[in-house]
Amino acid sequence: MFKAPRGTFDILPQEQPYWKHVEEKAASLCRLYGYQPLSMPIFEDAQLFTRTVGRGTDIVEKEMYIFQDKSGHELALRAEGTAPVCRAYLEHGLFNLTQPVKLYYIGPAFRYERPQAGRYRQHHQFGFEALGEADPVLDAEVIEMACRFFLSLGLSGVSIQLNSIGCKLCRPGYLEVLARHYAERADSLCPDCKARLTRNPLRLLDCKNASCRKMAATAPKSSDYLCPDCQLHFQGVQGFLEAVGISFQLNHRLVRGLDYYTRTVFEVEPQERGGQSTLGGGGRYDDLIETLGGSPTPAVGFAAGLERIILNLKRQNSDIPELPRPVAFVAYLGPEAKVEAMKIASQLRKAEIAAIMASGDKSLKGQMRQADASGSAYALILGQQEVRTRNVVLRDLRSREQETVPLADVATMLKSC
Ligand code: HAM
Repeated sequence: MFKAPRGTFDILPQEQPYWKHVEEKAASLCRLYGYQPLSMPIFEDAQLFTRTVGRGTDIVEKEMYIFQDKSGHELALRAEGTAPVCRAYLEHGLFNLTQPVKLYYIGPAFRYERPQAGRYRQHHQFGFEALGEADPVLDAEVIEMACRFFLSLGLSGVSIQLNSIGCKLCRPGYLEVLARHYAERADSLCPDCKARLTRNPLRLLDCKNASCRKMAATAPKSSDYLCPDCQLHFQGVQGFLEAVGISFQLNHRLVRGLDYYTRTVFEVEPQERGGQSTLGGGGRYDDLIETLGGSPTPAVGFAAGLERIILNLKRQNSDIPELPRPVAFVAYLGPEAKVEAMKIASQLRKAEIAAIMASGDKSLKGQMRQADASGSAYALILGQQEVRTRNVVLRDLRSREQETVPLADVATMLKSC
């Protein structure tokens, strides 16, 4: 028997209300803030991710799904959404439009991680990106938008962690003092961090190992090493957030797991925190588009994982709207009635009334069981006599009351129900 590959899963019909709820809230949020939808391919040139997400990151080093197609091109399943958005921005000349260009996407991302609750090899992201503007008001707006999204879903108690990691002018100086801090204590570093010391010192701050965490607590803070422009920008972000009443916690250890960030970085944590709990993360990536061959183009964005959102909605027993159910289940008794039932079902659908046609020549009892299981509001029952008199029995499946009505009137009656 085949099974879904490890770390992937099917989303069965009973799970779909959660997914539709989150997707609808995401789309209506983006309408509110003026973001337009963008759909991107599921695979890209592998270099798109290695160049932007960064060679020293877990995503690029350990987690990408890379393959060669039949003509030898090296492709990768989408590992995240930001680099593909920037690729599309450049490819379609969106820099010629009035800036900033605001785009959003919902779709799968693939990372070869060790699967556990909240961490999968195929997960789904809702992300939004504002490209072509450096103003800190936009960083604050993106953070406000992330907050409003979780609030609109009914997730209470989310918190914002915020930091600034500077720009290409001030970060090298910070990385030097940071690396020195760790180098002086190198004996107590975990093997991964020993490698990070030379390859990606910023990631030292993010290590979960107990002794590395201890070192992170006393490590120099990036915000103390910002150049005047980055300082001003960070103050701006905080000021605009305060102006709209968004509370946040400054977190000097927050660095994010992708290399393209500059200045603002932030993460959203749920009420109940734990290993794989971060609901979403984002920040500014002012150099990414230039890395891809474009002109210097500041940008900022955010992405959240749908699986983690749904996990939290379930934990909080949130009310989720049901998906629309069929209106009518059309049952029949005998071959003549079967043809008539098929015709009625077809007419109902023509009139935009959702209808399920019985099949398999089951007993009436069996058909009524099927009608109940389908969640239909009404059953239409046709026997020999109904066919002859051009009537149909209309049964309300909740109250179990029924009446005989003319076949010709049934669509109009159901439409008004
Ligand atoms: P990220 O933090 O790598 O950022 O992923 C965003 C969110 O996707 C995470 O906070 C988490 O909720 C979810 N996620 C990531 N990996 C997994 C996984 N293996 N299983 C389940 N959920 C996962 C980015 O990808 C950036 N592109 C975000 C961004 C947008 N930055 C600027 N714009």
